[in-house]
Amino acid sequence: MRKMIRLQVALTAVFLLTGAVCFAQPSSEALYKSKCQMCHGAKGMADTPSAKAMKVKPVTDPEVKGMTEAKMEEAVRNGMGKMQPYKDKLTDAQIKGVVAYFRTFLQ
Ligand code: HEC
Repeated sequence: MRKMIRLQVALTAVFLLTGAVCFAQPSSEALYKSKCQMCHGAKGMADTPSAKAMKVKPVTDPEVKGMTEAKMEEAVRNGMGKMQPYKDKLTDAQIKGVVAYFRTFLQ
């Protein structure tokens, strides 16, 4: 009986840990897919109809490549060109996470 309880505690700990580890990445990815992908494309290539209509630059553009992480966070926070500001819709942590995800497309 004792053993069972100990096993259960151990299993719960494992679930909690894996939950915490998995949380950061997929949530930024999910956020990007729901809020940013329609204009920036699945891989940041700005290959969607909205991207073309808004003249969004792909991540291969030198101007996008040359932007620092801080500048990108600012663009998302306060808006840039036709992109709306997200400061009232996303938390700072969400903006940081989603920009970090966007930057994985940069080569
Ligand atoms: C309605 C279309 C639209 C949506 C939705 C959108 N953006 Fe943008 N975004 C733009 C436009 C237009 C620009 C400015 C033009 C440009 O330089 O690409 C821009 C610029 C940026 C930039 C600066 C680098 C660059 O590509 O010029 C970043 C970083 C960025 N967006 C990230 C995001 C993130 C993260 C989200 C989701 C939270 C998002 N965008 C949602 C249209 C959009």
